[in-house]
Amino acid sequence: MLHRARTDPNFKLEDLPGSGGRMDIFCRFIVSSLLTSHGIRRDTVVYGVLLGPPNPPVAIKVLGDTVRYLNPDERSTGALIRNALFKMKRLSYNADTWMRSSPGVMFKRAGLKDILEELTNENFNIYYLKEDGEDIRTANVSLPAAFVISDSVDLTNDEEELVLGYSSGVLSLGPLSLYSEHCVVIIHNELDRRYSHFLKE
Ligand SMILES: C[S@@+](CC[C@H](N)C(=O)[O-])C[C@H]1O[C@@H](n2cnc3c(N)ncnc32)[C@H](O)[C@@H]1O
Repeated sequence: MLHRARTDPNFKLEDLPGSGGRMDIFCRFIVSSLLTSHGIRRDTVVYGVLLGPPNPPVAIKVLGDTVRYLNPDERSTGALIRNALFKMKRLSYNADTWMRSSPGVMFKRAGLKDILEELTNENFNIYYLKEDGEDIRTANVSLPAAFVISDSVDLTNDEEELVLGYSSGVLSLGPLSLYSEHCVVIIHNELDRRYSHFLKE
């Protein structure tokens, strides 16, 4: 969830935190979710729900198996997202079906509930990441799994209630509150250790 991320392309790649409404968090999150030292996690998909001005919500999806032009830096990742928002604006796109912006980068008009519905329909087990949840080290995590993580602010009460209605559990990654982009690395590591025999690459 990106509570303040801009929903049009009017932000500077040199100022992702300010004019982008903390778009830097989303960029780092995408990189941490999909890139490994010398590879890409082809079995992973990142969804971002952007709720900033001027026209929320917008959903962005980045697919590890098809994404191209994804580099480890925030700026070029910001450009991939901004290009999607450019295309959405140019087409006045308001549909709730995914439209491709560049290879492996999609957008549509959708909010949290739509994405939770989509994941549920695709038989994902949804887990909500929260500091006071059940320790992921000892919790059951059933695949395929999707994880809901907030940005620099917690989910609102309404968002939390919505997520809990779809989720199979609330998981904690440890006693400290961590950056979202660090959370995803820990989740991957936990799943790598448990399920590495399933990894495609
Ligand atoms: C930077 S934190 C949110 C803000 C934080 N609660 C605060 O104000 O200090 C970003 C998100 O990462 C997830 N998160 C951070 N630390 C976590 C932990 N130890 N266990 C589970 N999830 C965590 C939660 O989804 C959280 O909303």
